[in-house]
Amino acid sequence: MTSRRKLIAGNWKMNASLAGNEDLLRGLIAGLNALKAEVGQEALPEILVCPPAPYWSQVGALLESSGIVQGAQDVSEHPKGAYTSELSVSMLQDFKLEHVILGHSECRRDQFQTDNLITRKVATVFQAGLIPVVCVGETQQEREQGQTQAVIKRQVLSALSLLPMDFDRVVMAYEPVWAIGTGLTATPPMAQEVHSLIRGLLASRTHHAHALRILYGGSMNASNAQTLLAQPDIDGGLIGSAALSSSDFLSIISAAVARNP
Ligand code: 13P
Repeated sequence: MTSRRKLIAGNWKMNASLAGNEDLLRGLIAGLNALKAEVGQEALPEILVCPPAPYWSQVGALLESSGIVQGAQDVSEHPKGAYTSELSVSMLQDFKLEHVILGHSECRRDQFQTDNLITRKVATVFQAGLIPVVCVGETQQEREQGQTQAVIKRQVLSALSLLPMDFDRVVMAYEPVWAIGTGLTATPPMAQEVHSLIRGLLASRTHHAHALRILYGGSMNASNAQTLLAQPDIDGGLIGSAALSSSDFLSIISAAVARNP
């Protein structure tokens, strides 16, 4: 039995609208209040949503007093300056965002983000007192070639390499690239094996490894959440498509409630 509180995080990616956000969050908050009345506040997992930046203000207002927090999908390694299109940590702080997803495979793929860049972003976010949510994961080809462990090891150790020893503020997310948005999911034992590897890698850098959360992401949904979340080293989910429907997201939250110690 661990004391790690589950974390259920929704990565909205580039899916949002003023009207849609309001519907989604009103539904989510109503469902969450009903669940809270049933199981008690203590049994609920921590809940995070990461909308696109233009909606931070709207989402912040809608989430007021809900117990749900919002985070960012990425951030610049630089504090400010001539970096067209980028967002800084101080902008996140202005909107009271604490969590930042970093190293998502879509950013690695579409924006050519390298391990080195992600390492610097992780350090920037940590130094600002925020919480990096560091994504790692192998591609289909890497898995087929038996490189999963080596890829995960490289990505994790690189991402953590500029953090002080014994850091206690980071969330890891294992997102096998082949499972993202495809409907394919790592089987619970397959995911557990990688989560356990990540926990060991964390332990080589910090004595707090046992207390840090490692999320699974990649087609997590209402029907597979329960068994994934039952694995000893799976401490929550980073959810894409199923986070865009209040009922689907609530089902995953309920699965995390059932598994809380
Ligand atoms: P899906 O849940 O849509 O597969 O996306 C997972 C993900 O990439 C979350 O960051």
